[in-house]
Amino acid sequence: MIARAMHTIVQHPLLQHRIAILRDTKTDCKLFRELVHEITRFLAFDALRDLPTAAVRVKTPMGEASGEKVVGHIVVAPILRAGMGMLAPMLEILPYATAGVIGMKRNEETAEPIPYYLNLPKAWPDSFVVLVDPMLATGGSACDAIATLKKNGFSRIVFLNVISCPEGIARVEREHPDVPIYTAAVDDRLNDHHYIVPGLGDAGDRLFGTL
Ligand code: PRP
Ligand code: URA
Repeated sequence: MIARAMHTIVQHPLLQHRIAILRDTKTDCKLFRELVHEITRFLAFDALRDLPTAAVRVKTPMGEASGEKVVGHIVVAPILRAGMGMLAPMLEILPYATAGVIGMKRNEETAEPIPYYLNLPKAWPDSFVVLVDPMLATGGSACDAIATLKKNGFSRIVFLNVISCPEGIARVEREHPDVPIYTAAVDDRLNDHHYIVPGLGDAGDRLFGTL
């Protein structure tokens, strides 16, 4: 039986404050990047609660303490392009992680994701993948990325996302019920062009200044 993972909306006021500024059309490219960086760290704090750890003993100047250290092969996997904005903050808090890159671009008419690049590290039995993409719209990109990870031997996956909508969440939960989603906002709906409303527009364009 596959356990059904619930999606989690991360609600911290400091995170929601940043989301409001991120959405604002007045927010320029530099600030947008900085906010995505900070928001990712807030999301990670919640999403990585279940990282596997092992008990350790450490020597302090005053004696010995018991503690925990993160174990296993952790992989941070951004979906290009916009997911790149979430890679650096993840590697800052997981300096021993490796990165796997999944290149996809939505067809502008159909919103179907077109894969164009893939470079993943080797999958180990204890691999734990943190898939990152700021936008979850139709769910096509996330579902294809998760399917690709599974095809390449990765079974333990968590998805970190900044702005989502009911359609995208429902699709990921239907196709990959074993993958928990952590998001900062679930917006109202998709428009006729498959963009999230109210959303923030095109995350890749805002991040890379290609508007
Ligand atoms: C955006 C976004 C997601 C995808 C979400 O990428 O970064 O990957 O769309 O939409 P979906 O849930 O309907 O698949 P896009 O394909 O626009 O590429 P880009 O990041 O290179 O701009
Ligand atoms: N991709 C984006 O960047 N924004 C959306 O609203 C939907 C998909």
